[in-house]
Amino acid sequence: MIPHPLSLVQLLLAASFAVAQTWTANPFNPPAIPLAIKSPYLQTWSRQVTANSSLTSASPSFRDSSSAVGWVGMIRVDKTSCGWMGYPQAKTKAVQKDMTFTATTTNFTMTCGGVDLTATFLSPIEPTDLVNQSSPFSFLSVEVAANDGNSHSVWLYTDVTGEWLIRSNEPESDQLFEWETTPGTTVSHQFSLQKQTPFLEVNGRPRYGSVVYSTKQVPAMTYQVGTDTVLRAGFIADGVLNNTVDTQFRAINDSWPVFAFAHDLGVVGSTKTTPVVYTIGYVRDPLVQLSNIPNTNAPRGAYYLTRYSSTSDMVTALLDDYPKALARATVFDNDLTAAAFSATPQDSNYAEILALSVRQIFGNIEITVGSNGTTYDPTDIMAFMRDGPTNAVDIIYSAWPAFLYTNPVIGRYLLEPVLAYQTANPVQDGYAICDIGASPYPNVTGPSKNVFPVEESGNQLIMALSYTQKTSDDSLILKYRSLYEQFATYLTENGLYMKSQYSADTFNGQLANQTNLAVKSIVALRAASEIFQILGDNEKSQLYNSTASSFLEKWLKIAVSSDGSHYTLSYGSNPYWATLYNLYADRLLGFNMFPLSVYETQTKWYEGKLSKYGLHLDSRSWNARTDWQFWAAATVTNQTLRANMINLVKKYASSGLLSNPFPDRYNSVTGLMKTDYDRTIVGGHFALLLVPEVQGSTNGGGGNNGNKNGGTGSELPICFPTLPMALTMLIAFVCVLF
Ligand SMILES: *[C@@H]1O[C@H](CO)[C@@H](O)[C@H](O)[C@H]1NC(C)=O
Ligand SMILES: *[C@@H]1O[C@H](CO)[C@@H](O)[C@H](O)[C@H]1NC(C)=O
Ligand SMILES: *[C@@H]1O[C@H](CO)[C@@H](O)[C@H](O)[C@H]1NC(C)=O
Ligand SMILES: *[C@@H]1O[C@H](CO)[C@@H](O)[C@H](O)[C@H]1NC(C)=O
Ligand SMILES: *[C@@H]1O[C@H](CO)[C@@H](O)[C@H](O)[C@H]1NC(C)=O
Ligand SMILES: *[C@@H]1O[C@H](CO)[C@@H](O)[C@H](O)[C@H]1NC(C)=O
Ligand SMILES: *[C@@H]1O[C@H](CO)[C@@H](O)[C@H](O)[C@H]1NC(C)=O
Ligand SMILES: *[C@@H]1O[C@H](CO)[C@@H](O)[C@H](O)[C@H]1NC(C)=O
Ligand SMILES: *[C@@H]1O[C@H](CO)[C@@H](O)[C@H](O)[C@H]1NC(C)=O
Ligand SMILES: *[C@@H]1O[C@H](CO)[C@@H](O)[C@H](O)[C@H]1NC(C)=O
Repeated sequence: MIPHPLSLVQLLLAASFAVAQTWTANPFNPPAIPLAIKSPYLQTWSRQVTANSSLTSASPSFRDSSSAVGWVGMIRVDKTSCGWMGYPQAKTKAVQKDMTFTATTTNFTMTCGGVDLTATFLSPIEPTDLVNQSSPFSFLSVEVAANDGNSHSVWLYTDVTGEWLIRSNEPESDQLFEWETTPGTTVSHQFSLQKQTPFLEVNGRPRYGSVVYSTKQVPAMTYQVGTDTVLRAGFIADGVLNNTVDTQFRAINDSWPVFAFAHDLGVVGSTKTTPVVYTIGYVRDPLVQLSNIPNTNAPRGAYYLTRYSSTSDMVTALLDDYPKALARATVFDNDLTAAAFSATPQDSNYAEILALSVRQIFGNIEITVGSNGTTYDPTDIMAFMRDGPTNAVDIIYSAWPAFLYTNPVIGRYLLEPVLAYQTANPVQDGYAICDIGASPYPNVTGPSKNVFPVEESGNQLIMALSYTQKTSDDSLILKYRSLYEQFATYLTENGLYMKSQYSADTFNGQLANQTNLAVKSIVALRAASEIFQILGDNEKSQLYNSTASSFLEKWLKIAVSSDGSHYTLSYGSNPYWATLYNLYADRLLGFNMFPLSVYETQTKWYEGKLSKYGLHLDSRSWNARTDWQFWAAATVTNQTLRANMINLVKKYASSGLLSNPFPDRYNSVTGLMKTDYDRTIVGGHFALLLVPEVQGSTNGGGGNNGNKNGGTGSELPICFPTLPMALTMLIAFVCVLF
């Protein structure tokens, strides 16, 4: 992603967040509310630009801020019509009463005169069924009931615009698009750009594929394709559409063609109407182009095509299945909430953060099958992640807890193309490559120039063992045995004393002898030992194990600060420190190699380092990453601190300062995001679900830490947490300029 500085406007917006919210948010009002999130290009959010933004204040938007996705909802109650979604020009707007989100679902209650409308946006999360998980469709369902004890005649309307294909504010948006409406038991509006350029992404949107908006054929339903103002005015006047299709193909903003459905709900009393259900999806076939990887050069299709011969078959099945899909989603939501509460019985913050993360994690992933040109092969499965360079290993690593928890096989399918690429294209020094996609997704043509040798070699070994432990499936380590040997050899030679290089936190630049990276090397070598024991090579297993032990012994001496108060950023850099989030892997793999005193020392240290919105990553800047904070929270020995850390991330996510899909990197003092949002990286939030709490030593002795509070508070020359808000904002602005 291209970094861009925060604008003054954002800062001013941030400063004005005191406006009271006029509707109830349950559990809280996030920066952007997920509506339809089911693939890298089905990304429709309701951005919270002001504290009381509602579903009617603006058009829903794509993941970025400058990109409206036209989706309009209207309701006609007796003679009055209200806009209830994305229709800021509506003369009368429904009043938003509340918004509720869970992991899979967002509900809004909107009031128009004597009725309440419930809009349910469901993006199913079914990771254990790859057909279901690879579906690029979300649901919208609408129910209506009177709120005044009377009966009302009610009609419902919705349309979508060509903005689902291309931004209206870019030069190329003047190209023509075309459409088709197919009647049948399911009525589908399908539209696409006339000029299809497979695998090309521009401004975050693909230049190929089509959007499909569907509902079931029922007598009370009418549809129409035509100019926005005509259809909306026609609905306001008559409550019905004309079942006609305007076939004058044109640009999306040329008399704005919209794709509409209307339903006559009849006379509605206080009993909720039967839901009117729609599916919306962005369909591409093939999904990704892979080049330069042997045996996988053919374009790859969506996994669901192994069960459904066409998308229209799938849409019909989805519409029939909706009540069950909603019931399954409720089970998923409740199970996740229960798991979060057992990890943090103290409060609901953890459950709430996870609920906000889930659709974002899976929405940036696609599960594919290979083909021989004519037939898809259900045994050739790979998954792809659109988050930075395609399938970046360090991002898969940070999100790994989400896959491990929901279905580790998806994690493995993300790793496959990277390992396959490296098998065919060996790296001279044997370290693990960073990714397989320098070009914008879904044009996957080979790795970026990034080199994070210790980081990625360690990540690969840790994930390989973790997958094998969790699934009891040895096939991954058998298949890529020789790579795992190379990674272990590389770490043996370079893992403890490393030359200057990047870690996953590239924004911090390069550094030699990174203490936290060395933690990863040590755990990864122990993982290699376990891997080769499973593979029956005891000699290698013993070798890696003794290397891991001797590295650890040395690390304990060189990584600690001279006063023993904390572990350093790099060896010998006494006042500087880092969050040792890689310790999490020691717990995840069940090694518990690092002495408890390390955990306890860091716990005490972090206690003194929390700022207003959380724990920053290290002494170099106020940069905080939400994912690593959960990894670190899973390693602290103090429950109160653990709860505080989670609470502060929640405070950040609910501050009202932001309006992008859950930004993962931010300034822990100002609470303002840095560049990145809507990333799979938030899969790291699942960290606490996979490891038991680290228990502090019973005698209260904290190992070798002599000094409780350190004394290096001034490692950061600028941006102090204690300054008044206005001053902090001003200084933040100055910081941002650099
Ligand atoms: C938010 O509420 C304030 C005060 O009620 C109002 O002036 C403003 O227009 C509202 N903004 C939006 C986007 O609804
Ligand atoms: C959302 O609304 C649907 C339909 O009324 C309901 O079944 C579901 O329980 C609601 N979900 C939440 C989280 O409120
Ligand atoms: C996948 O969807 C089908 C309906 O299309 C359903 O029967 C099945 O239970 C779903 N699988 C899972 C694991 O939820
Ligand atoms: C439509 O968008 C194009 C490209 O942004 C612009 O040049 C044109 O003026 C717009 N047309 C209308 C009718 O707004
Ligand atoms: C895909 O990437 C390759 C290599 O960078 C480039 O030559 C090609 O034009 C790209 N294709 C598309 C459709 O962007
Ligand atoms: C439907 O057709 C009738 C008769 O031609 C016309 O009066 C009405 O405006 C049309 N409605 C829409 C939404 O196009
Ligand atoms: C692809 O595989 C299918 C099923 O195995 C086979 O029937 C077909 O002939 C193959 N096509 C090509 C071009 O090899
Ligand atoms: C790394 O640390 C070791 C031991 O402290 C030191 O000898 C070496 O010079 C350091 N390497 C770099 C590149 O700073
Ligand atoms: C590695 O060494 C540790 C002790 O340091 C031991 O507990 C573990 O079993 C060894 N693992 C293997 C695979 O030998
Ligand atoms: C745990 O952390 C809390 C808050 O950070 C602190 O007040 C408390 O003293 C700590 N408890 C122990 C046993 O260190």
